[in-house]
Amino acid sequence: MIREKIEDLRRRLEYHNHRYYVENSPEISDFEFDAMMRELQELEAAHPQFADPDSPTQRVGSDLTCEFRTVRHRYPMRSLGNTYSLDELHEFIQRIEREVGTTDYACELKFDGTAISLTYEHGRLLRAVTRGDGEQGDDVTANVRTVRSVPLVLRDGDWPDYFEIRGEILMPYASFDRLNAEREAAGEPLLANPRNAAAGTLKQQSSAVVARRGLDCVLYQLSGDDLPFASHSESLAKAREWGFKVSDKMRICHTIAEIDAFIEHWDTARRELPFPTDGVVVKVDDFALRRRLGYTAKAPKWAVAYKFKAEQALTRLESISFQVGRTGAVTPVANLAPVLLAGTTVRRATLHNAEQMALLDIRPGDMVYVEKGGEIIPKITGVELSERPADSRPFRYIDRCPECGTPLVRYEGEAKHYCPNQSGCTPQIVGRIVHFIRRKAMDIASLGEETVELLYANGLVRDIADLYDLRTEQLSPLPRLGEKSAENIIRSIRESTRVPFHRVLFGLGIRFVGETTAKYLAEHFRSLEAVMQASREELVEADEVGEKIADAILDYFADPRNLRILERLREAGLQFRAAERERSSERLAGLSFVISGKFTDHSRDELKELIERHGGKNLAAVSGNTDYLVAGDNMGPAKLKKAEKLGIRIISEQEFIDLIGDASPQSDSAPAPAPDHTPAAPQQPSPRQGELF
Ligand code: IVH
Repeated sequence: MIREKIEDLRRRLEYHNHRYYVENSPEISDFEFDAMMRELQELEAAHPQFADPDSPTQRVGSDLTCEFRTVRHRYPMRSLGNTYSLDELHEFIQRIEREVGTTDYACELKFDGTAISLTYEHGRLLRAVTRGDGEQGDDVTANVRTVRSVPLVLRDGDWPDYFEIRGEILMPYASFDRLNAEREAAGEPLLANPRNAAAGTLKQQSSAVVARRGLDCVLYQLSGDDLPFASHSESLAKAREWGFKVSDKMRICHTIAEIDAFIEHWDTARRELPFPTDGVVVKVDDFALRRRLGYTAKAPKWAVAYKFKAEQALTRLESISFQVGRTGAVTPVANLAPVLLAGTTVRRATLHNAEQMALLDIRPGDMVYVEKGGEIIPKITGVELSERPADSRPFRYIDRCPECGTPLVRYEGEAKHYCPNQSGCTPQIVGRIVHFIRRKAMDIASLGEETVELLYANGLVRDIADLYDLRTEQLSPLPRLGEKSAENIIRSIRESTRVPFHRVLFGLGIRFVGETTAKYLAEHFRSLEAVMQASREELVEADEVGEKIADAILDYFADPRNLRILERLREAGLQFRAAERERSSERLAGLSFVISGKFTDHSRDELKELIERHGGKNLAAVSGNTDYLVAGDNMGPAKLKKAEKLGIRIISEQEFIDLIGDASPQSDSAPAPAPDHTPAAPQQPSPRQGELF
């Protein structure tokens, strides 16, 4: 009785979920949906024996953190050849027609998200894997289960017992704007674009976070052994019947003229779509012809992507303001009359620097062209001179800091102006502290930019070391804080003393020392002491450290103010030493390796880790110091040539494994399983890739 009731609710909720998220035509109100959901939640809570991971109640995700296992794709996830030129697209079509005669083309939108492969077994979602390197990707099933348009259970139908379906995880503009508004309010760095946001969200540790981010998923390709379809369009129609969200914008075109018309239409009409697209994909519809056309090393010969040119908008430059960053760099910012561009309203754009502005002769009052690249802030690409007001005059760049009035300076080789008043210019001081507390640095999550500004305005912090002297009773009387948040702040500052050395090094904000360089420095020198004592020559010996970075490091440690701060941080108990590495053997001690190309049984990172675990060293580039080049597929010919010239030993993946010999832990990364109906074997958990934000 209860069981039937639960199952009936699940079926109805899944049906309405599909109406809402897949078909965009809800039949009931949100209120009714929520009431039904609550009823089911209560019943499930009272009768845990009927729990089911595929229940609609489970779409909210969980706070359990998940490690992403690496999974080998049963069918490699290839990419597409792409072009910005209609001529090239026409040549592509003509080549196909020369080979197989005239035929039908499925024209689809190119969704601008992140690729995903979903595997279904007996009509249930078994696994969701990212594209990764095309051969193997991350298992992100727990996160994808929270995406409402992904069916957890298929509708009744003639689906095969085991198949894969591929598509794109997208972040609609509405979700993206909401997310960035939240991040801005919390003082967190903004996400560059919906594509990065979608990819970053999929790699979140907590599926509950993913559930709240409002992702969507459109499917565009079915893979399986012996699929009973003659064409792509037929397979997509079936996928739609089974409950998948398949785009209704796909059209079958018969001629180049029809394909061109499809492209022309969507080049403009895409602006009205609720999610980002960056082109059109043209695919041969007929599966038999696809088989005849085959593949190149990387991509199918039966499909190509035509990419749209970046969208432009024309709007009025109302005024120019100047931002001072934590390094003192001054960035001119254009304040624009609000204009809609690529789905979001743009009000500001970067003007880069004085030279760039002079080059374009940009003046307040001008009508300017704005474009969105991959960055967060759009840029100005030109001025519409025909609309320049008659009384307009060239713009004179500022020569004093807009924040503290100090005369600006220009350093050799730098395009930007700088405010040299490091210790007295507010945005520089606050900026350094905000950088220090960032997630990728000390991760003091309870402090945001606004709180840092508040602390600074109240004279409580002037530098990063001051954070460790803060006491609850100093914070709690401040506006917007109170006892509880004050305690949280103090606790998370205290906890930050456990953050590993390389992140402390990154947090110091030494110029040009980004996250990766900090890691290399920590890896190479192992302690702050050693970095401080290193000469310019010794610094440059560390991987990825060039002369520019070495000089910046020397400058930082030459400043007595920084030394005082470091001394106080040491007293506060921060980690100034790298943790000991776990070693499996010393077989590679004293040997240096360069890893290059693609490998069959290991990822490049896995090989690098093996090298370190056995006492060897990884180098980024082939040089006289290299002992071995481990060469995979598709390796750059230049690298190979250089290695040959230098007489470096070039070995294969297998030869490398032999080099470690018995000391190598047995890798269970099986080659791609034979195409039967058993799922691909999951592999060892991979070290988490760095999150995108
Ligand atoms: S078909 C073997 N169709 O574009 C070809 N891809 O540049 C499989 N993409 O990795 C891809 N929209 O992430 C296909 N309608 C569409 C697409 C699409 C977006 C992405 C996909 C792929 C990338 C290739």
